[in-house]
Amino acid sequence: MALVTTKKMFEMAYKNGYAIGAFNVNNMEITQGIVKAVAETKSPLILQISRGARSYASMSYLKAIIDVAVEENPDIPIVMHLDHGDTFETCKQCVDDGFTSVMIDGSHHDFEDNIKLTKQVVEYAHDHGVVVEAELGQLGGIEEDVVGLSHDEVMDHLTDPDQAVEFIERTGVDSLAIACGTSHGAYKFKVAPTLAFDVIENIAAKVPNYPLVMHGSSSVPKEFKDLINKYGGDMPDAMGVPEEALTKASKLAVCKINIDTDLRMALTAKIRQVYAETPAEFDPRKYLGPGREAIYEMVKHKLDVLGCAGKAAECL
Ligand code: G3H
Ligand code: 13P
Ligand code: ZN
Repeated sequence: MALVTTKKMFEMAYKNGYAIGAFNVNNMEITQGIVKAVAETKSPLILQISRGARSYASMSYLKAIIDVAVEENPDIPIVMHLDHGDTFETCKQCVDDGFTSVMIDGSHHDFEDNIKLTKQVVEYAHDHGVVVEAELGQLGGIEEDVVGLSHDEVMDHLTDPDQAVEFIERTGVDSLAIACGTSHGAYKFKVAPTLAFDVIENIAAKVPNYPLVMHGSSSVPKEFKDLINKYGGDMPDAMGVPEEALTKASKLAVCKINIDTDLRMALTAKIRQVYAETPAEFDPRKYLGPGREAIYEMVKHKLDVLGCAGKAAECL
C-alpha cells in the first residue's frame, strides 16, 4: 500500500488509548532498524524527517529508502512526516515531495503569527490531501542545533489550554504538539523528571477526541548511556522521560510520541563498543550492523511502552 496520513491512526489511538511512535530517520540503517521492529510486531508507524535530515541525506535518498519500506510491508500503515518545519516554503516543498504529514512549528512566533503561519500551511496541505501538526507552547533542549530553554524555563512556557482551544479552532490544524515539560535531546532534567499531565488533561477536557503530540519523548536508556560512557563517551548527566510517563500520556489524549535521541544513543553506543573492543575493525558493516540491531530491539520495546504494538491492521 502507499504512504498514509495520520487520520485513521490518530482516530484509533485516541479511541483505544495508545500512541503511535514517531521515529526520526537520517539514513538507511536507522530506517531499517525501525521498520524491522514494526514489521515484526505489526505496528503502525510514523517516520519523520527533520530539515537537518533533508540536508544530510537528501530528500531523494530518504524517499527512496522509505518507498522500499512501504513496498515491502503492505500490511503496515506508514506515514512520512516533516518534523519541525519552520516556514511555509519548507512545508510546501515537503507536500510537493510526497510527504503525507507536515509539521509547521510556529511556537517561536507570538500567538497571532503562529496562527497565521499555521493556517497558511493547513490550507495548502489540506488542498493536497496532507495533514498538519502545529506547536503551541515552548519545549526546551537542542533543536536544529539551537539550544533552547532549560527545564525550569520549560515549566514556565507550558501550553495554555484556553489558547490551545482557540488555536485549534482558528487554524483547523489536525494535531497539536504541546509543551508539558519535555525537552529535545539527552539532557531533559537535572533532578527528578516532572511532567505537567494536567496540561494534557485540561486540553482533552476542552477539545474531546483531539490528538495531541508529545515531542522530546526519549527515555535515554541506561543501557546505552552506560555503554557510551564506558567506551569513551561523555554523557554522565543525560536524563530522559521515564517510560511509565510515556505509557500514561499514551492512555490520555497523546496520540503521537516523538523519539530521536534514543535512536542516536543506540547507534552510538554500539559503534563505540565495536571500536573499543575490536580496534582493528574497519568494515562499516561490522559496527553499523550492531547499531541497526540495537535500534530494532529498542524500537520493539518502545512499541509496547506506547501500546501500539500489534495495532497496524486497525489503523489501515
Ligand atoms: O527535534 C529534533 C529532532 O531530534 C531532530 O533533530 O534537527 O538534529 O535532525 P535534527
Ligand atoms: P527526543 O530528543 O527526546 O528524542 O525528541 C525528538 C523529537 O521531539 C523530534 O521532534
Ligand atoms: Zn520535536
